[in-house]
Amino acid sequence: MTSPENDGPLLRLDIGNVAHGGFCVARHDGQVVFVRGALPGEVVMAQVTEAPAHGRFLRADAVEVITPSPHRVAPPCRYAGDCGGCDWQFVAVSEQRRLKAAVVREQLTRLGGEPAERWAGLEVEAVPGDVDGLAWRTRMRFAVDDRGRLGLRAARSHRIVEIDQCLIASAGIDGLGLTRQEWVDASEVLAVSPSEGHPIALPDPRPGEARVREIAAGRTWTFDATAFWQVHPGAADTLSHAVLDLLAPRPGEHAIDLYAGVGLFAGALAEPLGPGGRIDAVESDTTAVAGARRSLHDVPTVHLHEARVDQWLRQTGLRRCDLVVLDPPRVGAKKDVMQGIVKLRPRAIAYVACDPAALGRDIAIAKSLGWELSAIRAFDLFPMTHHVECVALLTPASVGS
Ligand SMILES: C[S@@+](CC[C@H](N)C(=O)[O-])C[C@H]1O[C@@H](n2cnc3c(N)ncnc32)[C@H](O)[C@@H]1O
Repeated sequence: MTSPENDGPLLRLDIGNVAHGGFCVARHDGQVVFVRGALPGEVVMAQVTEAPAHGRFLRADAVEVITPSPHRVAPPCRYAGDCGGCDWQFVAVSEQRRLKAAVVREQLTRLGGEPAERWAGLEVEAVPGDVDGLAWRTRMRFAVDDRGRLGLRAARSHRIVEIDQCLIASAGIDGLGLTRQEWVDASEVLAVSPSEGHPIALPDPRPGEARVREIAAGRTWTFDATAFWQVHPGAADTLSHAVLDLLAPRPGEHAIDLYAGVGLFAGALAEPLGPGGRIDAVESDTTAVAGARRSLHDVPTVHLHEARVDQWLRQTGLRRCDLVVLDPPRVGAKKDVMQGIVKLRPRAIAYVACDPAALGRDIAIAKSLGWELSAIRAFDLFPMTHHVECVALLTPASVGS
């Protein structure tokens, strides 16, 4: 159960469908209420936490379950409901995946303009290394409280929840015993448990302090501990396989990897494109680009560009390419970037999305530019949370569609 930090009114609510962001939808006196900590079909008492001035909806936290869902379970973590790290610990893992699939389908329909029945069979796939949705997080940023103890932030709050153990932290991070130590003078601690080498903890991390090594897509990656890398141990391989499967790259083709990070997808594309191919990888974070340079120095077909994607697309003299991989941050790619990509007339775009709403909006933009959604897969890279990762294939709309 959640422990709301304000004292808004208590409402008795019949809980309806799941919505984006981990909420479920209910109605009170005709007004929509987005409820956290509840499941479809439940009856709950919920405390209002937000009543925006526009009056279009309320937000509330379930504080008592009157009629529980058969999919409600005892949260494995004792901090569930207080700690903001996991919002779905109280949901059976198989049901978490069904709910995430429903959210993806809804975003595709409502924002992406897809026919509701087209993606009815979409499932959220577990990834290799999944063990009941626990012990998967290989990167964690802990907050430090004023006593020098580690914790995680409460939901929608700066309050630090002191913890002994985080059950979604990987065994490597758990084994560091960070919560038993005092962290005076630090405001946060980054813990990283890479697939190669020892786990590390960095108080108030800055680029240049430590490098980590990861094995993925058949290569070894060496990069700064602060640079972006997927947090689930099964994620990098799963996503790069999905991207290659969907794009079906051919020898000699020219691909562009946008929001490239340390170059995961550029590296994965290098082999199928072969020595006659070319990959331009675009990334704005200097530290990540340095990691890509270090990791892909032996691949002459990869060309790295330290730049913002929108600016690079505007300024590149390139007129055509064959393939695009697009893996933007949560806000999505948006109109300028989608237009810049479409101008290059690729035969296919693989869109890797950590927010299905942003994906839905960008699909709608792609459609307005004469493209269509041809395939989509969804992966459970963030068990125990409402988050879900999708890989979508966009192609020029076929005549008549
Ligand atoms: C979701 S990560 C993907 C990284 C990489 N594709 C991977 O899977 O490891 C998004 C990346 O986009 C970068 N980024 C964010 N905004 C950007 C922008 N406007 N232009 C270029 N890169 C950007 C971030 O630094 C981050 O490395």
